[in-house]
Amino acid sequence: MSDALAQRLAEAADLVTIALDALLPRADGPEQRLTEAMRYAALGPGKRLRPFFALETAKMFDLEERPVLRCACALECIHAYSLVHDDLPSMDDDDLRRGRPTVHKAYDEATAVLAGDALQTAAFEILAHPDTHSDGNVRAELVRKLAAASGAKGMAGGQMIDLLGVGDDLGAVARMQRLKTGALIACAFELPLVMARPSEAERQGLMGFAQDLGLAYQIVDDLLDVEGDQDLLGKTAGSKDAARGKVNYVTLLGTDQARERVALLADQARSHLEMFGERAKYLRDSVDFVLERRH
Ligand code: IPE
Ligand code: IPE
Ligand code: MG
Ligand code: MG
Ligand code: MG
Repeated sequence: MSDALAQRLAEAADLVTIALDALLPRADGPEQRLTEAMRYAALGPGKRLRPFFALETAKMFDLEERPVLRCACALECIHAYSLVHDDLPSMDDDDLRRGRPTVHKAYDEATAVLAGDALQTAAFEILAHPDTHSDGNVRAELVRKLAAASGAKGMAGGQMIDLLGVGDDLGAVARMQRLKTGALIACAFELPLVMARPSEAERQGLMGFAQDLGLAYQIVDDLLDVEGDQDLLGKTAGSKDAARGKVNYVTLLGTDQARERVALLADQARSHLEMFGERAKYLRDSVDFVLERRH
């Protein structure tokens, strides 16, 4: 990864962490336990990749930063909620997340369920607030897109398929990954595009990029589960997915073929950006980040 991209990622991460810290609720009464758990989940050391994509898209289209920063915070709230619930004993049953105990370990299961619930609603409260955009139609469109990416035909639907298992059909695995991970990553581009109003070709280019990158991202996640260093990864590795009977590209194809698939998707992702030239420099470089990441 280039130093320039590393700096750009770090800037986006700092911006969104500071903004989220200001936006997430604080409380004094008994509900303080809930607001603290929400903050523990959302402000922990994540990569903030979805916010980076949203902010980068905003730069490509010269959008004002503030509305997109609020979109980035909403995306990160949904992402954090998805991780809190994903780690629950009834789902992946994980003890470690971002190098620290998972929310249900640091607090308790009921608090983790509520923290996830309240992070989800916080996302929509942020988007629907007039500070996000002066035009109520734009705000409604942002809410609708984030809801679609998170719900039964997006992340939550993908998580259901993941838990049920998809059999040994690669097409079904691809669909599951597209829903559970791809939909929210694609949404990181879609939200700024609501305000950018790009040409149809530009929209399709960015959506194609998001789709290929999103799938590559989840396959790399599945590879890291097998090959990753748990200390760097910050979550349990050691082929935990296979041990739990999960079906994904790595369990179906093995690591070599899964890596080949990632390389193919990476090339395809880059090709979608050709029409943008230098404007998409950092998005193009972010493909290498996805390929090389160790956490
Ligand atoms: C982890 O997401 C779950 C997947 C969708 C693969 P990230 O890899 O973006 O996790 P953080 O936010 O950096 O912790
Ligand atoms: C999770 O996929 C995707 C989500 C929507 C949260 P994983 O279950 O593989 O994510 P990790 O490995 O726990 O981060
Ligand atoms: Mg999972
Ligand atoms: Mg998991
Ligand atoms: Mg995983």
